[in-house]
Amino acid sequence: SRQIAVPTAPMGWASWNSFAAAIDYDVIKQQVDAFVAAGLPDAGYKYINIDEGWWQGTRDGAGNITVDESEWPGGMKAIADYIHSKGLKAGIYTDAGKDGCGYYYPTGRPAAPGSGSEGHYDQDMLQFSQWGFDFVKVDWCGGDAEGLDAATTYKSISDAVARATATTGRPLTLSICNWGYQNTWNWAPGLAPMYRTSTDIIFWGNSPSQTNMLSNFDQGLHPLAQHTGYYNDPDMLMVGMSGFTAAQNRTHMNLWAISGAPLLAGNNLAGMSTETANILKNPEVIAVDQDARGLQGVKVAEDSSGLQVYGKVLSGQGNRAVVLMNRTSSAQNITVRWSDLGLTNANATVRDLWARADVGSYGTSYTASVPAGGSVMLTVTGGTEQSASTYTGTASFTGV
Ligand code: GLA
Repeated sequence: SRQIAVPTAPMGWASWNSFAAAIDYDVIKQQVDAFVAAGLPDAGYKYINIDEGWWQGTRDGAGNITVDESEWPGGMKAIADYIHSKGLKAGIYTDAGKDGCGYYYPTGRPAAPGSGSEGHYDQDMLQFSQWGFDFVKVDWCGGDAEGLDAATTYKSISDAVARATATTGRPLTLSICNWGYQNTWNWAPGLAPMYRTSTDIIFWGNSPSQTNMLSNFDQGLHPLAQHTGYYNDPDMLMVGMSGFTAAQNRTHMNLWAISGAPLLAGNNLAGMSTETANILKNPEVIAVDQDARGLQGVKVAEDSSGLQVYGKVLSGQGNRAVVLMNRTSSAQNITVRWSDLGLTNANATVRDLWARADVGSYGTSYTASVPAGGSVMLTVTGGTEQSASTYTGTASFTGV
């Protein structure tokens, strides 16, 4: 099968959340430089993804995309070359329909009729690959407005991506940006390594919202669809965007990591605080996200409304990641029971991934106080797997 060139969920930065259409060579170059200076590549972040706004929908007589060289000197190949010169991978963006999102939703976007790839899937995917791009996000505004069938359309696009890769020899990774209302998780795994599961986490011009973040997380949980190489995508991160507290940033990371979601930072990296950089770079949280088994976390308990326990099966035997999520408005104790994690009652090591320290060895459960609206992230390792026949928990641990 195709498109398993990406074994773990893609990590990088994408331009949309902070810049919308206000992008050009200099803006992207500045972000690339800040990305490198912040040490994000060493933490595993690789992609620099140019989102909508790079193209105004113009083509030459042969149907080839024409780029405004006053904004992109040397064309899009030059910025892809610059990204590659830093050892990174380059991403670009188009729409499945005739007209891109800016045409339908012009606020903060370019009103660019024609800025979609319909009728040009092979030509455009090959062009992106020839320019040197490694990743392409294909949006759905035109497809939606025209009433195209999403599964059929993205199959054609996935085929075009595979042909472009075969022609240039450069793997092109497809990101399906179909917002979940057509059940992407039922048809997108196998067509692309990542596929959106909900609407935008932040609309241009708005402040980051914990409600939107939680809602995108909830809508992104489709554990039966996810396995190594196929990732539910609850959208780009708002970590570090103005209005989110450090605790909210950590909770955002915890939930994306327990999901095994793509980690595409969306904040302005120029002038990013050390605190934000360290939140994005927490190696233990990233290791959970990038666990080789590629599974998604599931909710394993909610003893009282809003006091939730999520568990994710990690590689090896008897290893779990856990998020204790408090959705209530007061600090509360939350308990994770080994029996709910598919482990027997036997000693396992509990580690706090933000304290970056073991908290001890526990035989049946662990309880932590969790702040209002906040979360705690743990690993429980060295436990003993329950056999499926004796498992008494409520969650289905796919892939165990
Ligand atoms: C849609 C997508 C966003 C972003 C914008 C660009 O809303 O869901 O992620 O790409 O289009 O206009």
